[in-house]
Amino acid sequence: LLAIADTTCQKSARFSARPTPVSVSGTDVPDMESFLTNRVRKAVFPVGGLGTRFLPVTKAVPKEMLPVVDKPLIQYAVEEALAAGIEEIIFVTGRGKAAIEDFFDHSFELRQVLGERGKDAELHTIDIPVLEPGRIAYTRQQDPLGLGHAVWCARELVGNEPFAVLLADDLVMADTPCLKQMVDVFDETGGNVVAVQDVPREHTNRYGILDVASDDGRLAEIKGLVEKPDPADAPSTLSIIGRYILLPEVFGYLSERKKGAGGEIQLTDSMARMIGEAPFHGLRFEGTRFDCGDKAGFFEANVAFALARTELHDQIHSVIQKYAADESC
Ligand code: G1P
Repeated sequence: LLAIADTTCQKSARFSARPTPVSVSGTDVPDMESFLTNRVRKAVFPVGGLGTRFLPVTKAVPKEMLPVVDKPLIQYAVEEALAAGIEEIIFVTGRGKAAIEDFFDHSFELRQVLGERGKDAELHTIDIPVLEPGRIAYTRQQDPLGLGHAVWCARELVGNEPFAVLLADDLVMADTPCLKQMVDVFDETGGNVVAVQDVPREHTNRYGILDVASDDGRLAEIKGLVEKPDPADAPSTLSIIGRYILLPEVFGYLSERKKGAGGEIQLTDSMARMIGEAPFHGLRFEGTRFDCGDKAGFFEANVAFALARTELHDQIHSVIQKYAADESC
């Protein structure tokens, strides 16, 4: 791993994640400005998508607000980001997504009514992360031109520092939150880091796929990326799931607004152009990822997260057994 990091870091020292030490009275201390801009403090959540795979509900409800058990998908993603040390949240939103803004705000009326009725348990559930004013921002992606375009819409809010991107429909159950695992890798290697998992070859046309230079079973050094290749053309079966740590240089490539797979401005294509300029690794994270953009994956997430809840486990378990035993199902 160190060997990989060393060779790739040499390609461009300016992309290193580590603060440059400066000497003060003979002692090496990190330069504060460099320290600030080399920490992953901001996370971008592209939430402007139309959610066509979940029509008709998404006609009026943002897909990010669909619940897994009783929490919306976006809440899981935001909690994961905060657990990874993220301090600023940027939503790239769109028309019909106002419910997300309301969700991450106080609900005075509800709080008052629940308080008056002595519903303490329910009161606790609405204590969702409401960030300090100014640490949560919303910008609109007026046209759905692709994930790359959505991320580019956040460029002014991100500025010149590394940042995370989380796609809420990829839900990860893990002891150590997936993004935290990635931040730990970023602190070691610098550069870009994506979360990856192996997928069946027939599914490569659903994902960004890695061309791998070297692989130690946990970290893969990336030499190429292809968005949604046909199974026959895919350079591997190692796919990106919706978690990224990216250097701000990606905005330069995104600003060219080149269209890729599906006629959309793809994030993968701009990331691919950074290979060779900065370290670039795929992390096989520890945990289970659920594709909640897909009906079966969304259902499975609900089962898994409900079973993981002690107060629901037995009830859900017997429901599953009932249907499993029914041969007419
Ligand atoms: C997006 C990305 C793709 C990535 C996937 C993960 O695709 O473009 O590279 O593998 O998310 O879920 P989408 O699912 O938006 O089509």
